[in-house]
Amino acid sequence: MPENAAQQAGLLFDAKAQSWESKYRPNGPLAFRVKVFAALLQGRVEPGAAVLDFGGGTGAIASALSRRGLRMTVCDVSEQMIETGKQLHPEAAIDWRPLPANWKRLPFADRSFAAIIASSVFEYLNGVENVLAECRRILQPGGKLFFSVPNPAHPSRKFERWLRPLAVLLLKIPGVARLPKIGNYLRYLEVSRARFSQAQWRQKAARAGFRPVAVQLEPAHLAANQALMYLAFE
Ligand SMILES: C[S@@+](CC[C@H](N)C(=O)[O-])C[C@H]1O[C@@H](n2cnc3c(N)ncnc32)[C@H](O)[C@@H]1O
Repeated sequence: MPENAAQQAGLLFDAKAQSWESKYRPNGPLAFRVKVFAALLQGRVEPGAAVLDFGGGTGAIASALSRRGLRMTVCDVSEQMIETGKQLHPEAAIDWRPLPANWKRLPFADRSFAAIIASSVFEYLNGVENVLAECRRILQPGGKLFFSVPNPAHPSRKFERWLRPLAVLLLKIPGVARLPKIGNYLRYLEVSRARFSQAQWRQKAARAGFRPVAVQLEPAHLAANQALMYLAFE
């Protein structure tokens, strides 16, 4: 049995590693994420700046940003996501950093990065406050933090909230977690559980020393997945 949320997430994404990158094919369901994070960073970091993709998975976003001249680091608790990413993007100048499931301190010096991005990662965290404090520590003064998280007001997220207790029960039945597709979906419901409003995320970020940054995304970016919301801090 996995002991903590990061271990659960690591195992869930180890299982998804081989197929993850196909979601970023042209017009694939996650392709918009590259455009969104490129737009968020555009004009807010210097060319060649050091950027951390926290929970960066197979590096689909990081490799695209590295082609745009940013110095990318990817860290993640899923060894398989990292290993798959290395194989898929051998040409990308990415610093790949696997993290132990029980990490408390990120393996980076204070003030290492001009920006941190985290695409759909914070909802898997158990200790959001510690992670925000770590982000603050490794960001340079004035450094930016951009992350996407589930929008709890969206109908699909309300449905997930309703379904989650059932998923937890079903996963207690032997063999259910190993069922193709449905097993992974139930585990996603179990593990992706940090749901906060925009105001609550802002409070948590403020406690870690961040202040909000106003960003305007194109309507097409926002429309690509209305079940997500984007937060920006410095
Ligand atoms: C939904 S995937 C997103 C991957 C990538 N950011 C993307 O948008 O394609 C979530 C990622 O967060 C990672 N993750 C979950 N909990 C984590 C933690 N505590 N520390 C670091 N990475 C974590 C998972 O292993 C997984 O690769």
